Amino acid sequence: MCGIVGYVGGRKATPILLEGLHRLEYRGYDSAGIAVPHRSRLKVTKAAVRVGELRDLVGDGLPATSGIAHTRWATHGEPTDVNAHPQQDTSKRIAVVHNGILENADELRARLTADGVTFASDTDTEAIAHLVAAALDGAETLEQAVRTALQDVEGAYGIVVMDATRPGELVVARNGSPIVLGVGDGEMFVASDVAALVRYTQSVVYLDDGELATLTADDYRTSTLQARSTAKSPTTVDVDDTDFQLDGYDNFMHKEMHEQPDAIRRALLGRLDERFATARLGGINLDARALRAVRSVKFLGCGSAYYAGQIGANLVEELARLPADAEPASEFRYRNPVIDGDTLYVAVSQSGETADTLAAVRELQRKGGQVIGVVNVVGSAIARECGHGVLLHSGPEVSVASTKAVTSMSFSFALLALLLGRVRDLSVANGTRIVQGLATLPDLISDVLATEDEIAKVADRFRDARGMFFIGRVRCWPAAREGAQKLKEISYVHAEAYQASELKHGPLALIDETMPSVVLVPDDELLAKNIGTIEQIKARGGPVIAVTNAELPHGLVDAEIRVPHATRELDPILLTIPLQLFAYHLALRLGRDIDKPRNLAKSVTVE
Ligand code: AGP
Repeated sequence: MCGIVGYVGGRKATPILLEGLHRLEYRGYDSAGIAVPHRSRLKVTKAAVRVGELRDLVGDGLPATSGIAHTRWATHGEPTDVNAHPQQDTSKRIAVVHNGILENADELRARLTADGVTFASDTDTEAIAHLVAAALDGAETLEQAVRTALQDVEGAYGIVVMDATRPGELVVARNGSPIVLGVGDGEMFVASDVAALVRYTQSVVYLDDGELATLTADDYRTSTLQARSTAKSPTTVDVDDTDFQLDGYDNFMHKEMHEQPDAIRRALLGRLDERFATARLGGINLDARALRAVRSVKFLGCGSAYYAGQIGANLVEELARLPADAEPASEFRYRNPVIDGDTLYVAVSQSGETADTLAAVRELQRKGGQVIGVVNVVGSAIARECGHGVLLHSGPEVSVASTKAVTSMSFSFALLALLLGRVRDLSVANGTRIVQGLATLPDLISDVLATEDEIAKVADRFRDARGMFFIGRVRCWPAAREGAQKLKEISYVHAEAYQASELKHGPLALIDETMPSVVLVPDDELLAKNIGTIEQIKARGGPVIAVTNAELPHGLVDAEIRVPHATRELDPILLTIPLQLFAYHLALRLGRDIDKPRNLAKSVTVE
């Protein structure tokens, strides 16, 4: 998605803005631009290029000590030079960078055109620039003009506005699209993501929806759109610049897969209670009585977060014997769901900013549903709006393909299931078994990561496949879905996940020697059934790659990816790791851009 950076202070702004854009590249974009004050005007450089090329276009930059910059992911209008941000009004006095989508863009365009404005671009953002310019007449401050302009605007936005006549000031506003201010010593930063700021400051202020801020080098002032002061103090973010560096890895996905054991150890810290064979989740404001009153659990998330939610639902059902399910938040928000007061809703998101998941949270809260957030990014919209929940502690995740955050999600759901189980009928013995299983999971994940070279060889053997099936049964079905998702996402090889027993009801027709199946075969009570599924595939000539900790009959499969034994309920978490490595190495062999797959963005902050 789009990225925003702004700076006002005493240093040369251009290098800071370009570096900020570079840090946001992982979010996905198709054009980039920058505006800095120069000789009473704003000098705008923008094009449908990568940030590196923008750097070449800008050159050494001007001596300006303030400016705004943007990476755009096209929504209104194609990814062209003219549609890149910053967008300006006709007189070129105002420049605006904008994340989000205006819902009344057509109406605004028609109205402004009728008033004599000629639009230079196809973007919705340009309307904001014209509205602010018009509102300057009669406004004493830029903030006032922005406030007036935003009264006409409907939809989602995070914006930064600059006025050529006030180069030492930036006005920022947020409604549905993240904005964070960075507070420095005699300098202020603004960005859509802390990744762009942490090189300079850890002291941040998150804007809420409906909030506006004016930034000068020495100060910031926050208020509501209705001009009521919201006086906010800065908080300290627990990430720093090194979290956004490759540390010798070739790409972030590789680094983040290898960070999983430590990420899980952090998610574990202080959360296992061996004495009472349960979990401690301090962030959830529910005591034992409230936990017992829960009659069902529903997980809501998008993409991989939704698949992790499916793993969570299975764990809750198995360990707590409570009805549980997962649903894509993107569907839930649009289908007028019946909200049950006795259901615990769990909104799950790495970024905490996914628009569909946030909308589901708001719909739930509006209808009185009880919702907790399971989120990685501290201070994100979902974390703040849920008010309570579980932090994943995975550290920043940069690669578009989520790995360590998804693993931490499933892991946190296992803790939640254990907690819910132990206030019900999960025995001490079984609770202890799960506690021990969770405690050993980081080491088991390290063991799987240590077999990376073997997995790479398997990926190499199947690099020419035109498509693949990922097959799982019952508790491993969501892990199969996540495996297919990872392969699709980063290799662009078609991959489809199926429940093992559903194959014979249709998809078996696609099986032949050119269609490999990756089959998850845990050493559990369903082993014989899974062997039966493999035999059905083999009988139709389909190659089979088994991901397994079981002893399979000799010669049954074409390739085996071995994983260690875990506690059986936790198998789906462990079996996800080799699927990540498999997708990664296959994509690598196909020469794909691992961290920035085509058409995708790291956090989907628009519908
Ligand atoms: C994961 O690899 C995907 N990039 C995607 O499905 C992602 O999980 C989804 O967009 C949800 O993101 P979130 O966790 O930030 O809400």
